Amino acid sequence: MSDKAIENVLHENRTFEPQAAYQQYTNTSLEEYQQKYRQSIEDPEAFWNEVAQNLHWFDPYQQVLNWQEPFAEWFVGGTTNLAYNALERNLSDKADKKAIIWEGEDGEVRTYTYADLTREVKRFANVLLDLGVQTGDRVTLYLPMIPEAAFAMLACARIGAVHSVVFGGFSSGALADRINDAGSKVLITADGGYRRGSAVPLKRNADDAVQNTPSLEKVLVVKRTGQDVQMQEGRDVWLHDALQNVSDENEAVALDAQHPHFILYTSGSTGKPKGVLHALGGYMVNTYLTTKTVFDLHEDDIYWCTADVGWITGHSYIVYGPLLAGATVLMYEGAPNQPDWGRFWKIIQDHKVTILYTAPTAIRSFMRAGSEFPNSYDLSSLRLLGSVGEPINPEAWIWYYTVIGKEKCPVIDTWWQTETGSIMITTLPGAHTMKPGSAGVPMYGVDVAIVDADGQELGADEGGFLVIRKPWPSMLRTVYGDDNRYKTQYWGEIPHVYFAGDGARRDKDGYFTIVGRIDDVLNVSGHRLGTMEVESALVSHPAVAEAAVVGRPDPIKGEGIVAFVTLQTGAEATEQELKAHVAKEIGAIARPDMIRFAEALPKTRSGKIMRRLLRQIASGQEIKGDTSTLEDVSVIEKLQQSVQQS
Ligand code: WTA
Repeated sequence: MSDKAIENVLHENRTFEPQAAYQQYTNTSLEEYQQKYRQSIEDPEAFWNEVAQNLHWFDPYQQVLNWQEPFAEWFVGGTTNLAYNALERNLSDKADKKAIIWEGEDGEVRTYTYADLTREVKRFANVLLDLGVQTGDRVTLYLPMIPEAAFAMLACARIGAVHSVVFGGFSSGALADRINDAGSKVLITADGGYRRGSAVPLKRNADDAVQNTPSLEKVLVVKRTGQDVQMQEGRDVWLHDALQNVSDENEAVALDAQHPHFILYTSGSTGKPKGVLHALGGYMVNTYLTTKTVFDLHEDDIYWCTADVGWITGHSYIVYGPLLAGATVLMYEGAPNQPDWGRFWKIIQDHKVTILYTAPTAIRSFMRAGSEFPNSYDLSSLRLLGSVGEPINPEAWIWYYTVIGKEKCPVIDTWWQTETGSIMITTLPGAHTMKPGSAGVPMYGVDVAIVDADGQELGADEGGFLVIRKPWPSMLRTVYGDDNRYKTQYWGEIPHVYFAGDGARRDKDGYFTIVGRIDDVLNVSGHRLGTMEVESALVSHPAVAEAAVVGRPDPIKGEGIVAFVTLQTGAEATEQELKAHVAKEIGAIARPDMIRFAEALPKTRSGKIMRRLLRQIASGQEIKGDTSTLEDVSVIEKLQQSVQQS
């Protein structure tokens, strides 16, 4: 772990009081939050028991929490089903309420009520059963943002299959690795999906991926674009064909609360992506509660989270949390600038969206495109704005608040992770004072602290490591197939606490400000990428001998990728070629912004690449700190020159 001091660079003193008008609307008052938070920390079991009672259990649990550090079991002995809770449980009073309003990039709109969605999911579940999927089997999803993505996830949840959703922007290689790590039996994909006006060839990528995936038996294909695809006899099945033979009836399986609900791969500081495993009962209860409280859901809300289902935000706050809470969810397939930067605002106007949950990188792109886009649409339906994925800089926060929210919508800045499963730090709309740039206070049951490397708690405004001291229901259960990695990476760095990889500070009012990752993980446009993954992709190019990847501040993406590369003796490669190679190996999101060729990389005498120096070089800063362990100091100057020339 890095022991560098985390500097305070943000000086932001503006605060925004909860608007009087909004306070009439809110579900939670400040006093209620304080009282409930206290209860949730003093007696977590009583607190979570009360929340869990809102959901359906086929068999009641005997114990709320069984904690054997670092392994937690929540709602021990209970059986339940997440799809049943999102569907049948909501049918009594919401059968005709819209569950999903979907808009394609091409403008097509489809709407599903809770009754429609229940039927679609049951039928989809029957298709999976026909393909031989059994409880506990892994199913990989590689899909565009279409309603079938939600059907497929819920269908897996219904029969107890463990889904692993792979973002549709990932390459075939990344897909193959994830299928193999999970040992998936079935892959669900589509012919293609629309993105920025063109059709992404998902099936073709999938065909490449499944050349080397021995566990895979069937590929289920959704028809979205109608583009030409090759269907392999005996392996590939069209969804619309499979649906013809199935019944509308399907009974949800009563699953143990500890049943693995899904795997989602995310970047860690070392090695291959980690399969973060979430278990059914705890994840369900925690996403249900946070959706209801943090978004302050009301019966008539039209809720839009702009994430992709391939990320945790899409799992917890497009599909599971909102549908458990009986919300109307808007889902959009495409890019924010298709056909122009007014698209989001037009969607809000057309569908009368009340809650918008998006990412700082998108907000910064909108700012750059200009306020005339949002200003030419009617955004008066909006009442709440949310941000997630990376720190939101105060300028972007203020723009979001004034230009989009017209100073009448609270902005919530929600901090959480793939591993935490649900929102951990935020302010509650209407209850808390908002401080641009600062995420806010812990959610119920979340015992957060700022500590130093020895685990000693630090004082107000001191930068340190953000840790969580008590288990919470939606905490990851393990790294799939690797308990040891789970132990060492999350509970091994600082004794007896969950360490999240982020640096932060807490101010005198108890607000947490996240200052960024302290490990070798990049946050590009709100997406986590391990420097190691990008480095491995570069080194897989035959001309590359060694590569080191660092982030540098980027005005739109938050962090841009800079790669330093040494070539094999006598080999040649262009910057363009290597960028394209990374995009092919991992996906376009990992494409480096800059590649610099070097004769040598700065290393310690023990051979460790000094990333701290590379970070300073990449962002054009002066070299600070100790360089005495460097093997060859002249390397630095050469690298600086190569960056300046660009
Ligand atoms: C960062 C996304 C500051 C953080 C839900 C975290 C944030 C990582 C915020 C998790 C926020 C997420 N303010 N930083 N509101 N939200 N992050 O797993 O570094 O894709 O550790 O989960 O994103 O990214 P992940």
